[in-house]
Amino acid sequence: MEKLVIEGGSRLGGEISVSGSKNTALTLMSAALLADGPMKLSNIPALRDINTFAQVIGFTGAEIRYDPITHELEMDPSSLTRFEAPYELVKKMRASFYMLGALLGKGGAARVSLPGGCAWGPRPVDLHLRGLEALGAEIKFEHGNVVAHALGGRLRGGVFRFEPSSVGATVNLLLAAVTAKGYSRLENAACEPDVVVFCELLTAMGAKIGGIGTHTLEVEGVPMLRAADFTNCPDRIELGTFMLTAAMAGKSGEVLRMTGAEPKHLGDAFLTAFTQTGTPFSWGTNFVEVVVPEKIQPVNVETGIYPGFPTDLQAQWTVMMTQADGNSKLRDTVYTDRFKHIPELMRMGANAIVVGNEVVIQGNTALQGAHVMSTDLRASVSLVMGALVAEGETHVHRIYHLDRGYEDIEGKLTRAGAVIRREKYDEWAGPDEGNEG
Ligand code: UD1
Repeated sequence: MEKLVIEGGSRLGGEISVSGSKNTALTLMSAALLADGPMKLSNIPALRDINTFAQVIGFTGAEIRYDPITHELEMDPSSLTRFEAPYELVKKMRASFYMLGALLGKGGAARVSLPGGCAWGPRPVDLHLRGLEALGAEIKFEHGNVVAHALGGRLRGGVFRFEPSSVGATVNLLLAAVTAKGYSRLENAACEPDVVVFCELLTAMGAKIGGIGTHTLEVEGVPMLRAADFTNCPDRIELGTFMLTAAMAGKSGEVLRMTGAEPKHLGDAFLTAFTQTGTPFSWGTNFVEVVVPEKIQPVNVETGIYPGFPTDLQAQWTVMMTQADGNSKLRDTVYTDRFKHIPELMRMGANAIVVGNEVVIQGNTALQGAHVMSTDLRASVSLVMGALVAEGETHVHRIYHLDRGYEDIEGKLTRAGAVIRREKYDEWAGPDEGNEG
């Protein structure tokens, strides 16, 4: 396995580039399965999750080629013959469940392994399944797989209300609805930027979708979608992560510039809370500049659906708040049990108490380097952030979680002045070889 070894205390400066959005890229790749021929997607980040999903797509027989240097992905679904996504691939990444909607939309049949739980709770898929049934799919379960069919090869379309609003279920139902025989209405649909950009690609491919960017989506099914080349949007969670890192670990008074960025995708709640920390920032076409504050003001936040504060930034916010000038509270209303990073941060000297879906964070805390364990993607980047301001060396273990969603993070942070190296280690070795035992 690999770990990052981070020397704390170097203050960051200069420029950090933001890659293409991981979560949006996965929706775009799913949409490309519905095309009638080859198409090219640009600004696709070089990440483990993209490779995993490329394997899922390749399993169907569709052609897929990805170039991590140009960040271009070419797909041709003409050769697709297997309407299946097996357990071995789905278990690696929950978003593989998009294959259910995509294959139903493509040919009216799908056999997709049920995803399991995840590091921070059960994460159900009931809305995906009930929603597809509302569009006319017949669904049964066989040996851990969802087997779905559309009578006559095409769904009829229908009305469904998401409760709660779900990004993944909205994407899955859209994939199925755009080629249905009739009309569909999706109520309380997600309007996260990932969904909006996904709808923009579907529209470019000939889909008829009304209400894009609102909570009610209306779809008139069309028989077939055409191929369309498309450029992915920047990753808003990576941008938010770097803005928080800059404010916390930058040289006081200096400007850190994030390039390739789309700050509006972060939503009002994050941008307001960030302003309230006393960190001045500004933006222009494709960039954000953060002026590193002398002191960070403590700010309470509560996560919510877009334009609420993103749950995918709460672990990073928590680390920043350990450095704030006072105590603060954070509540996660989207995933009420997403606090696996807290015990690891406490090993670094953080003082935080989890009560239900809330965490109380003590500010003005001097963090210390330690051996810590990544438990999921956003938790692992929060440990890297803590390590940057900690005294001494931190070893962040199991960084395969980090590689799922942050392209070349050590390269990007090193170029901004951090001292980081990647090392291989033996997970099962004794304590003196760097393992916690
Ligand atoms: C997506 C993102 C993930 C982010 C999350 C919330 C991708 C690949 N992942 O995940 O990074 O943290 O949005 O912004 O884009 N729910 C149900 N039943 C369902 C589906 C969801 O009850 O069938 C609930 C969930 O438990 C959760 C809420 O709906 O409380 C929102 O989850 P959802 O938007 O579906 O998250 P994902 O799409 O899985």
